[in-house]
Amino acid sequence: MSRSLIIDCDPGVDDAVALFLALGAPELDVLAVTTVAGNVGLDLTTRNARLIVERAGRGDIPVHAGCDRPLVRAPVEAGEFHGASGLGDWAVAEPARPPAPGHAVQALIDLVMARPEGSVDLAILGPMTNVALAMRLEPRLAGRLGRIAVMGGARSAGGNITASAEYNIFADPHAAAVVLGSGAEVIVFGLDVTHAVLATPERIEMIRATSGDAAAATADLLDFSARIERAAVGRAGAPMHDPCPIAWLIRPELFELRPARIAVETTSPLTLGATAVEFRLGQGEAPSTRWAVAADAQRVFDLLATSLERLP
Ligand code: BDR
Ligand code: CA
Repeated sequence: MSRSLIIDCDPGVDDAVALFLALGAPELDVLAVTTVAGNVGLDLTTRNARLIVERAGRGDIPVHAGCDRPLVRAPVEAGEFHGASGLGDWAVAEPARPPAPGHAVQALIDLVMARPEGSVDLAILGPMTNVALAMRLEPRLAGRLGRIAVMGGARSAGGNITASAEYNIFADPHAAAVVLGSGAEVIVFGLDVTHAVLATPERIEMIRATSGDAAAATADLLDFSARIERAAVGRAGAPMHDPCPIAWLIRPELFELRPARIAVETTSPLTLGATAVEFRLGQGEAPSTRWAVAADAQRVFDLLATSLERLP
């Protein structure tokens, strides 16, 4: 039995890999992809999402464009890690299909509210602007959703944009505070765990050896990220951030989670977007949020190869 899933994202090289991972997984029924401004501007993230679903042979999945800027703060992009197009050095063309009609925020609400409570999961792979707005527009949404699997934040790893802030949270801390404080079941995959899921040369070769165009396209994305990562931070292997929440939705046993109280810094200029992750819970306290502390990186890549094999 597959679970219904909406993917909110800002492709983005690792968002693209995450989309391929989801689209090749029979465990997931992707109802829609919603896009947000983040790594690159909204026009590009929306075009890129359409290109990816089409390359996966799933041009039938609606792609709804969402918010073109964060709730409060000024936009921050991350094109230096994703290339000017957002898709590394892929030769990008215009997708065959236009974006689906209707704003992403309304689409999220309509898709979830029309289905039984708890039956639709949500993956958030970029700034959380769309989801925060949807929760404000439809206050019943948080209680209606299934699990929300998020890529964002950092605890022991430190930040990748500032000393303490990770990009997705830094890019819209106010939205992240709304989602993490909503009472919904939120599982957060921050840099502590994504920095352990590295696209090493051996793993990229394994993906390249996998059959199909989607696998070859993914290997190109991984090569691009690995090159940028080495040049920018000297790391041997690019972290596969966004595939982590998707991999958890498919195979939860690949990750170790801990219940935690998670809050976002929204006022301090010095630590804006930092995630305060508190494992010391009160007696009987059962937070609705969990924090990923460990991953089986090799099996995440094996899972990616399995998904890609199912795509054209
Ligand atoms: C996150 O930031 C973006 O650049 C990536 O796509 C990922 O979602 C990692 O910090
Ligand atoms: Ca992303």
